[in-house]
Amino acid sequence: MTDRKDILEPEASAHVHIQSLSWGDRNFLPAVNKLMAQFLENSGRDYQPVTEHDFYDITYRQERTVIPYIIRDFRVPENDGVIGTATLVMTRLLDGWVAKIEDVVVDKRFRGLRYGRTLAKFIFDTLQCWATGRYKQPIEVYLKSRPDQQLANAMYERMGFNLIATATDSPNGRHLYQKIITP
Ligand SMILES: CC(C)(COP(=O)(O)OP(=O)(O)OC[C@H]1O[C@@H](n2cnc3c(N)ncnc32)[C@H](O)[C@@H]1OP(=O)(O)O)[C@@H](O)C(=O)NCCC(=O)NCCS
Repeated sequence: MTDRKDILEPEASAHVHIQSLSWGDRNFLPAVNKLMAQFLENSGRDYQPVTEHDFYDITYRQERTVIPYIIRDFRVPENDGVIGTATLVMTRLLDGWVAKIEDVVVDKRFRGLRYGRTLAKFIFDTLQCWATGRYKQPIEVYLKSRPDQQLANAMYERMGFNLIATATDSPNGRHLYQKIITP
């Protein structure tokens, strides 16, 4: 197994690759399911692994409004090199585009090595390109996080997200963050 200490600066490394997943990438499902099980640990919810049938719905039938991403490091042989995942959900409302970023998780063994930040930044840069080039209008971006996920919350705040609401009625509470990406 590759040791954490061998891994430096994913942003700058030729070994690190981020890709969005489509139906043809269903071979990555076992790796993504392992990460999602970690994501829901201690959340009070059981994780039902995504089946191939679910993945077909997610990536094909919904016409690419739900876009799963993975970040891979080719120096890590296990799990197809998949280190983290995040899902972008794009919705066109009557008054403009809304993006939600869901299920951001980095494998426990490789946390604190900037994979999370690299993946999140990649998705924000993509949204910036779409706001400027494809849609030519602002995109309202939302993400949720548990208050006890302090590392994630600090990371989002440093990336310019504002905490706009905190729900107190779910088991562990929920923060809602917002950022407007302008063209
Ligand atoms: C949140 C999570 C995705 C971050 O991924 P990561 O690869 O571990 O984080 P990174 O190494 O990219 O670090 C992100 C930021 O936290 C800082 N950080 C990382 N480890 C840290 C530590 N031990 N102490 C303090 N700060 C730390 C980094 O400096 C970085 O700050 P920057 O953005 O200003 O550069 C990951 O920890 C995770 O999977 N957590 C569990 C699931 C979760 O909380 N998901 C988010 C809610 S949707």
